[in-house]
Amino acid sequence: MKKAEDQLLVIFGASGDLTGRKLLPALAELRTQGLLPDRFAVLGAARTAYDDESFRQFRREDSGSPLPDDFLRQVRYQPFDPNDPASYAALRGRIESLREELSLPDRIVFYLATPPDLYGIVPSGLREAGLDTATEPGGWRRIVVEKPFGRDLESARELNGLLRDIFAERDIYRIDHYLGKETVQNILVLRFSNGIFEPLWNRNYIDRIEISATETLGVENRGGYYDRAGAMRDMVQNHLMHLMAFVAMEAPSSFEPEPLRDEIVKVFRSLRSYSAEAMETDVVRGQYEGYRTEKGVAPDSTTETCVAMRFYIDNWRWAGVPFCLFTGKKLRHKESLITIHFKSTPQRFFAGQCSGRSCNKLTVRIQPDESIALNFGLKTPGAGFRVRQVSMDFRYDSLPGSDLPGAYERLLLDAMTGDSTLYARSDALEESWKFVEPVLRHWQRQGDRGLYRYRAGSDGPAEAARLFDDGAPERCTKED
Ligand code: BG6
Repeated sequence: MKKAEDQLLVIFGASGDLTGRKLLPALAELRTQGLLPDRFAVLGAARTAYDDESFRQFRREDSGSPLPDDFLRQVRYQPFDPNDPASYAALRGRIESLREELSLPDRIVFYLATPPDLYGIVPSGLREAGLDTATEPGGWRRIVVEKPFGRDLESARELNGLLRDIFAERDIYRIDHYLGKETVQNILVLRFSNGIFEPLWNRNYIDRIEISATETLGVENRGGYYDRAGAMRDMVQNHLMHLMAFVAMEAPSSFEPEPLRDEIVKVFRSLRSYSAEAMETDVVRGQYEGYRTEKGVAPDSTTETCVAMRFYIDNWRWAGVPFCLFTGKKLRHKESLITIHFKSTPQRFFAGQCSGRSCNKLTVRIQPDESIALNFGLKTPGAGFRVRQVSMDFRYDSLPGSDLPGAYERLLLDAMTGDSTLYARSDALEESWKFVEPVLRHWQRQGDRGLYRYRAGSDGPAEAARLFDDGAPERCTKED
C-alpha cells in the first residue's frame, strides 16, 4: 500500500463510538505499518469539553484495542459545536496553529463521523469559515461521509447537491465499509484475474446467486438510529447492493475509480423494479421478538430487523437469474456469504449426484473464517457410481503471515492518498435508493401487516424461508 502524503485529518464526531472503535485503531495500525504521513496529525472535534490530554486519556481507556502512546501523541482535540459559527472560527484558528507547529501543508481530510443530521450542517459551516478550499499550491480538501447517506432518494439527492456545492465530486468520499473488506475486493480479483470463471459467469451457467449477511447481535445501544433506519436502509441499500454489484458487474475498462464505478452504476440501472405483486411475493421483512422493548425503539415500531428479497437484473448477462439477498439482526449466525449456484448437468446419471437444481456452487465467505470453496461431485470410493459432494477450499488463514487488514484501514488510507475506487459515487447511491425506496414506501403503507416476528437466535421468520427452497438462505427458488 502507498504511504499517504503529509496532511491533517479532522474527525468530526470524535467522541463517538465509530471514532473509538474503528477510526483511531485503524489509524494506529496504519502508523505501525509505516503508512501514515511523516508530517501528520489527527484533530478530533466534538461537543464534549476535552483538551488534548483528556481526550487521549478517554480514547486510551475506551477504544476496543490498545492505542499506542506514540500514535496518541499525534492526536489532538478541539471542542466544537456544529451549530455555532464561533466554533468554526475557533476550529480554523486551531488548524492554522497546528499547521504551523507541525509544518503541515494545506491538505486536509475532513471525516464526518457524526450523526447524519450534521452531514449538511458541518460542510456548510466549513464553507462559511473558509475552510472548504485550499489556498496554497499543492493543497487540497477531501471530505469523507459515513453512511447512512440520506434516508431516501430525495434526501440523498439533496445531500449530494449540498456537498457538491462545496466540494468537487472527486473530493467527496462516501464510505461503505463493506468495500474496504479484503474478501469483498477479492471478488473482483477472483472474477477478473482468472480466465476459468468468466466463461461460466452468466445466465447460461449460473442458476441463482445468494448473498447473505446475518448477525447475532441486536441493535445494542443504537436503537434510536436503527429504529429510523431498519435493515433495508442499514444493510441492503448500501452493503448488500455493493456486494451484488461486484458479483454482477462487467469488467471495467481499467482499474481506475471512474471506469470501475461506471460498471457498478450500470448494474444498478439494470435492476428490475418490483411490481406491486412482486413486493408481496419476493420481499419479506421480519422483526425479532423483543425488539420493541429495546432502548430507543418505539413500543409500536414496525421497523424491520431482517429482510429477504429476490430480484432480477435485466441485462444480457443476468436475464432470468434470481439474486437473493438475506440480512438480519439477532439471527443464529454472524456470517456474510456469497454463493454462486451453477446449473446442473442436463442429465443426472449418478445416484446421489446432488439434490435440487444445482450440483456445483462457489462460496465466497466474506467473514468470519474468510475462504472460497468450490463444491463438486466425487465418486464415492467403492463399487458402483455413487456421488458425494465435496469441496475444494482456500482459507485466508492458510496464507503465511496474512492478517487481513481491517476495512477502515484500507478506506482511510485510500481517502488520504486520494483513491476513491472503493467509495460510493453519487449516481450509484441514487440508483440504489431508486431500487429500494418503493419497497420502503410499500412497507410504510402496510404498517404491521406482513411484518413477521422471529425468535432471537433463529434463522429468521419462516416466511423469509419461503423465498428459499427449504429454509436455508442458500437456496432460493427460481422464478417459474
Ligand atoms: C453497519 C451497520 O454499517 O454494518 C450495522 O450500521 C451492522 O448495523 C454493521 O452491524 C455490520 O458490519 P460488519 O462489518 O460487522 O458485517
